[in-house]
Amino acid sequence: MAIIKSNNQNIIKAANILKNGKLVSFPTETVYGLGAIANNDLAVANIFLAKKRPTFNPLIAHFYSSEDVFSHVKKNKIAEILAENFWPGPLTMILYRKDKTNISLLASAGNNSLGVRVPSKQIALKLIKLCECPIVAPSANLSGKISPTEAKHVEKYLSKECEFILDGGNSNYGLESTVIDCRNDIPIILRHGPITKEMINDKLKLKEDNDFILKTNSKNKKTSKGKLLSPGLLESHYAPNTPLRINAKERLKNEVFIDFGNSLKINRPDYVLSKTEDLTEAAANLFSILHKADEQKQNSIAIAPIPMKGLGVAINDRLIRASTNKK
Ligand code: TXA
Ligand code: MG
Repeated sequence: MAIIKSNNQNIIKAANILKNGKLVSFPTETVYGLGAIANNDLAVANIFLAKKRPTFNPLIAHFYSSEDVFSHVKKNKIAEILAENFWPGPLTMILYRKDKTNISLLASAGNNSLGVRVPSKQIALKLIKLCECPIVAPSANLSGKISPTEAKHVEKYLSKECEFILDGGNSNYGLESTVIDCRNDIPIILRHGPITKEMINDKLKLKEDNDFILKTNSKNKKTSKGKLLSPGLLESHYAPNTPLRINAKERLKNEVFIDFGNSLKINRPDYVLSKTEDLTEAAANLFSILHKADEQKQNSIAIAPIPMKGLGVAINDRLIRASTNKK
């Protein structure tokens, strides 16, 4: 692990490391990110492992241009206006994924939405361009710690987990991007940041007293006027439509069985999360296998016990939320 100057040669090196499925920390205009190539499930799973995140929070995908963004997520009028005015820059929009996108489902935590942004930092843009693929990146800190604004902060947090830290000096903003959910007619700010409510309001020509802003950290998901948002609008946990049974040790009738490895000796499980019982590989496969199991439209989906260590903690967290037998 090393802090490396962001010259052309090193940016090329970093792009090659990313393309090989490894992690690289890189500067953006907001904070430093911990990047993985967006189309590689295992690389994306390694981000959660490196950050020691106990849950699969969805990740932001970083693109070279607005045009690239809208080839992966669905465009609408609001997104178009905000993209025109604030990209490249510190604004993340939550939009619906297009069916054909190759961006890892794990970056969306299994949901049909994706956080997208076009950063303005040249080093970040060069890196994305060389990868010929978007880069997903959370802030490059350990879970629960403050975001890094200098390369040496990243080194402090992630010296073992990250091969390469591109040094881009101090972050310009030192504050994470504004996150705005643009999937509905009423855009909702989920995280305040450098692009303010007033700046957004001005471009969208919404009335001054519109109630599209969530109170920061509001647990009840109320707007600034106290109006409760429609349930499901901010749904962030993926659950299959088919009832899900967790910690299952045998297969019931008309049931799809997802095994962790092979230790249960289940007769031909429908899916196996990781033949070698590797929890990072299991995490990488989790959401795509759940989606496939759901498509089979059986009476139920059963999933074998997953060990509570490493990424097993995050896998179990998601499975408990998605399951019908929550004990
Ligand atoms: O400035 C930034 O946004 C930095 C740089 C590296 O781009 N990234 C960053 O990522 O702060 P992260 O993972 O630390 O924070 C992203 C936030 C999280 O609160 C996450 O829950 C939310 O954005 N988010 C991402 N995708 C989402 C989605 N599909 N739906 C709802 N929230 C999402
Ligand atoms: Mg963060």
